[in-house]
Amino acid sequence: MNRFITFEGVDGAGKSTHLAGFADALRQRGLDVLVTREPGGTPLGEQLREILLHHPMDINTEALLMFAARMEHIAQVIQPALDAGKWVVSDRFSDASFAYQGGGRGMDWDKLRQLEQWVHPELQPDLTLFFDVPVEVARQRLANNVSLDRFEQEHSDFFERVRAGYHRRLAESPQRYALIDASKSPEAVAQQCRDILEGLLARE
Ligand code: TYD
Repeated sequence: MNRFITFEGVDGAGKSTHLAGFADALRQRGLDVLVTREPGGTPLGEQLREILLHHPMDINTEALLMFAARMEHIAQVIQPALDAGKWVVSDRFSDASFAYQGGGRGMDWDKLRQLEQWVHPELQPDLTLFFDVPVEVARQRLANNVSLDRFEQEHSDFFERVRAGYHRRLAESPQRYALIDASKSPEAVAQQCRDILEGLLARE
């Protein structure tokens, strides 16, 4: 049963655009789908998002707030929806903490594992679509944005480390991921998403 699906990738990979289409396609099959995002997804989580995206802070504080928002998100939104038989599609989840706080900021991987173990000892996404793209391509896509948040303002070397963090995480449990070549055109990426969706529903 594949019900909890997450979308991941560096800023500018294009995951948010394709997430909407993916969720719509699931709905067209008559499935009950809840779309959510991290950091955020609850009123408290959205307040934490605002702080996280715009206020400088210690890296440990950053990781703790990401997981605090996630705790609330799981308790209030994700778990109740899964228990009610809904599909949950989340724009980012714990992989982003490993990639950004672990890879990008250099926070100790084992500390992040401890937080993950505390906040969601049992829960993991059934499937994660990882939008992989060379950092220069992702940077170019962000170039048109008028206002960039605290993460988006980081330099290329930060995003190289984020990307490496995602790959490290992927190597730890490859069966959970679908790797998407997000350097392709929007149409080609959408096709990759449709293929994954077909594969998923064929296994239901
Ligand atoms: P993002 O989904 O990229 O927001 P938007 O598309 O609206 O810009 O997520 C916001 C940022 O939060 C993104 O730069 C990655 C960062 N982030 C972390 O650093 N750690 C985390 O655990 C999560 C969930 C997000």
